Amino acid sequence: MNQPKILVIGACGQVGTELVENLAERFGSDNVIASDIRDEASFQVKYLKLDVMDRAAVKKAVVDNKITEVYHLAALLSATAEKNPEFGWKLNMDGLFSVLDLAKDGLLKKVFWPSSIAVFGPTTPRNNTPQYTVIEPTTVYGISKFAGERWCQYYHDRYGVDVRSIRYPGLIGWKSLPGGGTTDYAVEIFHEALEHGKYTSFLSADTALPMMYMSDAIKATIEIMQAPSEKIKIRSSYNISAMSFNPDQIAKEIKKHIPNFEIDYNPDFRQDIANNWPASINDDEARLHWNWSSDFNLERLVKEMMDNLKSTIIVPQ
Ligand SMILES: NC(=O)c1ccc[n+]([C@@H]2O[C@H](COP(=O)([O-])OP(=O)(O)OC[C@H]3O[C@@H](n4cnc5c(N)ncnc54)[C@H](O)[C@@H]3O)[C@@H](O)[C@H]2O)c1
Repeated sequence: MNQPKILVIGACGQVGTELVENLAERFGSDNVIASDIRDEASFQVKYLKLDVMDRAAVKKAVVDNKITEVYHLAALLSATAEKNPEFGWKLNMDGLFSVLDLAKDGLLKKVFWPSSIAVFGPTTPRNNTPQYTVIEPTTVYGISKFAGERWCQYYHDRYGVDVRSIRYPGLIGWKSLPGGGTTDYAVEIFHEALEHGKYTSFLSADTALPMMYMSDAIKATIEIMQAPSEKIKIRSSYNISAMSFNPDQIAKEIKKHIPNFEIDYNPDFRQDIANNWPASINDDEARLHWNWSSDFNLERLVKEMMDNLKSTIIVPQ
């Protein structure tokens, strides 16, 4: 079978760091290229400095390396984009068109681009949010992701582009730090718990959000890209779900590992963003169409994070 030749754009971020590793294991290091706007990076695979908004450079990278699939991850995330809405919109939209147009011109066979639960807003049903529902995002990030979803569907319907997408919930992993999202607290809390025994949460105790362990997110990403084309019936973006918890619940789970751990609360502007997002997600369509299922619940996630971070963080005695 012909192996895909993969380019990951925005590879140095929270998702890219783990995705590149997994893709290389699965398809071979020679078949994966990592790229990012940063000057340098340490990957086991070839690395290119690439600005996704530089269309000519992206095209050259694709042609020169005979790329067949792009995983396009570069974006300004929810909290960061609120600080610079104009640039958030520009990067998130121009970057997507840069990749979709290469696929439209026949230079790529498949494209992966993640959307987010940020597409949902205050008028969306908050619990067990369905795939098809009211979508009125209030952040520039959510607006850009929703517009992106519609463009993905359009490029598929109009130009036959094989683009696949999932709406990631808040992602939690130990191999990399988050890049400016509203769910970052759920990663920071582990580092602070291990290093200082306490954490001040920027979301209130009862703010429940949909969350996922990174290995489940990577599994979903690779599985949706590997599924036969006819199984992908939604070309905008699929809901996927694993668990839902609030800061109080994750703190209690961490206390099982660090009994003296203390949490307090000092909500900031990110509280307003979180207040407009769903608490939990219904992912029936993804389960039905391409057989999606998650492996990690809160208990397993916390154990995995603690076990792995303990060996990477130098814990003060
Ligand atoms: N992490 C989450 O919880 C989460 C949740 C929902 C959706 N997503 C989506 O998943 C994708 C990846 O998210 P992440 O958490 O890894 O983000 P991140 O911020 O950690 O990483 C993004 C990467 O893109 C790079 N980048 C920025 N501008 C670029 C440019 N012009 N050209 C090339 N690279 C550029 C950055 O240097 C960074 O390494 C994004 O589309 C994000 O919206 C993430």
